[in-house]
Amino acid sequence: MSSENRPNIGEEYIRFHRVMTRGLAVSIRNINEFLKIGTIETSYREGFLKYAGIFSSVSNGHHLVEDEKIFPYFMDKLPEVPYQRLISEHNIFKSGLQEINSGLDSLKAENDEMKSLQLLKSGLGKIDQKWHQHIQIENTQLYGRVGSLKIDPEEMMRIQKEFIEFFQEYAGPEYLLGPFVLYNLSPEDRAIAAQGLPEIVTKQLIPIEWKDKWAPMQPFLLE
Ligand SMILES: [Fe+2]
Ligand SMILES: [Fe+2]
Repeated sequence: MSSENRPNIGEEYIRFHRVMTRGLAVSIRNINEFLKIGTIETSYREGFLKYAGIFSSVSNGHHLVEDEKIFPYFMDKLPEVPYQRLISEHNIFKSGLQEINSGLDSLKAENDEMKSLQLLKSGLGKIDQKWHQHIQIENTQLYGRVGSLKIDPEEMMRIQKEFIEFFQEYAGPEYLLGPFVLYNLSPEDRAIAAQGLPEIVTKQLIPIEWKDKWAPMQPFLLE
């Protein structure tokens, strides 16, 4: 098997960080616009609540799979990664996500709109402060080095499956998760990511069966 065909979960997680980075930036940009006018424009409301909600769920699942599965797996293989620092930053992200979730609940309950939006902005801001440096460390010191570990392809597929299954227990619903991941990626990245998904998901569920549920998010997604 040539090295190009070898599965490399390091590259997948670097790509996944790009999904989350865009999700964060798009959420912040839109919240700032909504705050300017004091409310979420009616036509964007359902889509934005879904977009920010699945961003939060995906982020929570991602930090958890790193804490519980990925870091423990690589700890003795790549011992120089600052795991404790990364784990303590996840706790900051989780407190940001709690604010985001409270803000979203409060928007759904149609409580004080400005207060709810401020809560969302505060949660997103907490994450944004540390996120970029956090993934820089993960990408360069952990995920970017996975290829050099020469992990057996079968073992790579085994951990890939284990990590995804764990993540999916925490992130969802799937009808928002799939489109959120694929359509926050550039077309080139999306084509690579789609190869790792079952055809029924990319050809049937996302474009047809799930479409009505995720379509409201489209103003926030890439084409
Ligand atoms: Fe992380
Ligand atoms: Fe990460």
